[in-house]
Amino acid sequence: MSASTALRHAERADAFFQDFDVRPLPGGLGAEIVGLDLAQPLGDDDFARVHRAHLDHHVVVFRDQRITPQQHIDFSRRFGKLMIHVLHQYHLPGHPEVLIVSNIIEQGKPVGLGDAGKYWHSDISYKPLPSLGSLLHAQELPAEGGDTLFADMHKAYETLPLHLRRAIDGRRAVHSYLAKYGQMQKDGNWRPTLSPEQLAQVQEVVHPVVRTHPETGRKALFVSEGFTTRIEGLPEDESRQILDELFAHSVRPEHTYRHVWRDHDLVFWDNRSLIHLATGCPPHLRRKLYRTTIEGDLPY
Ligand code: OGA
Ligand code: MN
Repeated sequence: MSASTALRHAERADAFFQDFDVRPLPGGLGAEIVGLDLAQPLGDDDFARVHRAHLDHHVVVFRDQRITPQQHIDFSRRFGKLMIHVLHQYHLPGHPEVLIVSNIIEQGKPVGLGDAGKYWHSDISYKPLPSLGSLLHAQELPAEGGDTLFADMHKAYETLPLHLRRAIDGRRAVHSYLAKYGQMQKDGNWRPTLSPEQLAQVQEVVHPVVRTHPETGRKALFVSEGFTTRIEGLPEDESRQILDELFAHSVRPEHTYRHVWRDHDLVFWDNRSLIHLATGCPPHLRRKLYRTTIEGDLPY
């Protein structure tokens, strides 16, 4: 037991809590949580520590979580309402709150969404209420590849060159689920033709280009290649030019973390602070993860 844990035991001998560490990852983005078992009930103090770590580090990696989909859902729900993904084809049977992310094809049918995260994005930014955060739980991992990259959008905003800061001041941008959908339909076999009901769920929306994190008050850039199509009120060529510069600036290596997956990892990131990217793996290697997505509030 660490000294700080011993102290917490002494202070709150009556409280239920687990002996776990929050270890910031080298490189300044992300933290690892070691020694916490999410299959056990989580006391309020432990929940508060996890919540704090999520706000401070933007992505937290819970190692070695042998949890069921229901436990994954229950833990996720403590942070807010869960979102149901528009591609119902890839819901986990019996658990529509879980999206299957997988490149596996069984009997000619995709098991999950094989090209999830192919372009940098913040989950569900194409909805009026985008996601607060997502939790991705490893089920099957490839022997090589399959890493996930995360980029810090607070840092992106803080280090913006002056001409870009001026160009986006007070501006809003359009986000669309369909931004890359047609391209991904051409490039793979994962994207079904959307039904009228599905199309009705993904009407494009407008969000501020710079948002304020509702819990920390920090500003963050809130555009991404995956879903942002144009900046409102600018000529198309100027909007394109600025967006391309913003996208390139956002993902500078010094502001990113590369997650190399380990068996039973559960990764919980903040979609208000980060964008992320699936780097992909060789197609013959099986990869499967389960995702829950928490609804956030209206960006401002
Ligand atoms: C996602 C996603 C990235 C990955 O599930 O939201 O973008 O590496 N996944 O699977
Ligand atoms: Mn994603």
